[in-house]
Amino acid sequence: MGRTTVDVHLGMDDIDKALRLDVAAGLTAVPKELPPKWFYDERGSELFDEITGLEEYYQTEAERQILLDNASMLIATARPETIIELGSGTSDKTRAILDAAVAADLRRFVPLDVSEAYLRTSVESLAEEYPSLLVHGVVGDFDHHLPYLPSGDRQLLMLLGGTIGNYRPAERHVLLWAIAARQQPGDHVLIGVDLVKDVARLERAYDDASGVTAAFNKNVLQVVNRQLDADFDLARFDHVARFDTENEWIEMLLRSTADQRVRIEALELDVAFAAGELMRTEVSAKFRKERFERELRAVDLEPVSWLTDRAGDFAVSLSVRR
Ligand code: SAH
Ligand code: TRP
Repeated sequence: MGRTTVDVHLGMDDIDKALRLDVAAGLTAVPKELPPKWFYDERGSELFDEITGLEEYYQTEAERQILLDNASMLIATARPETIIELGSGTSDKTRAILDAAVAADLRRFVPLDVSEAYLRTSVESLAEEYPSLLVHGVVGDFDHHLPYLPSGDRQLLMLLGGTIGNYRPAERHVLLWAIAARQQPGDHVLIGVDLVKDVARLERAYDDASGVTAAFNKNVLQVVNRQLDADFDLARFDHVARFDTENEWIEMLLRSTADQRVRIEALELDVAFAAGELMRTEVSAKFRKERFERELRAVDLEPVSWLTDRAGDFAVSLSVRR
């Protein structure tokens, strides 16, 4: 059994405060909006896990294939002593990289996630699977807690699952900048991005036939109901996923099916929804090589390789801090 530690930078109080601020700002904005980090309570993480196994959601298997096919090349290039994974979830695909890395110089793995229960489970199983490894879990928000990550060692930082696409361009630039700013010259960054493709396939990936993605999207209302004592009626919201061809991103929305008022007791807030009104819950940007590599260079990350699956659906980008 490898050694484990878990730092908690997001206790119940912090989560409560941040959720209150996000919900108050989002539900009084025009148009209304809820930020995606609140999808991932225990139920939400379970539903996301189910999404990764869906026939329509090609991304997880495509990324796994890329990581398996290229793990030894990636590790020979980056030669990490510490691997950091942001938004690690179950770290399932990450094992392809860890297998190659522990056979080389790796001594520490640092997964960071907002979802504490999931993080703790995955820290325990990783320590069992990799007895030589120090597994240092961090419960935190990568929008705020990157400065608390351990420094030192030759580092490889990973952000998989297309999570970078859940940021708009301006916020994405800030996140990439914050990642690069904490690295030493010669450290590497590995980021998974979904690619622009046929619109029908993209929309199906976010609106599957069995309704798992719809349940995942609506779960954010359940989180607000439970945490902030609200009374969203999930039956009166429909899941909507559509591709915005101008911005090249999928938009996830919830459509109110009736004129209705929702009470958020903890905020003493009443919110009116008109029939047909759309509330945005997430964007998922789709990328092209040139644009993404330009974004990396803008924060002093030099692209090293651009790896795609055989079908050309998904890409994993390796870059090095200048
Ligand atoms: N990396 C996994 C999971 C992707 S889902 C995969 O590729 O399958 C996105 C993950 O990021 C979830 O586990 C969620 O809890 C986490 N997450 C989302 N926003 C976050 C934030 N702001 N800070 C930290 N973790 C976040
Ligand atoms: N990072 C994933 C993506 O953009 C997250 C995700 C998958 C997601 N399916 C979703 C987010 C459905 C909200 C709703 O692909």
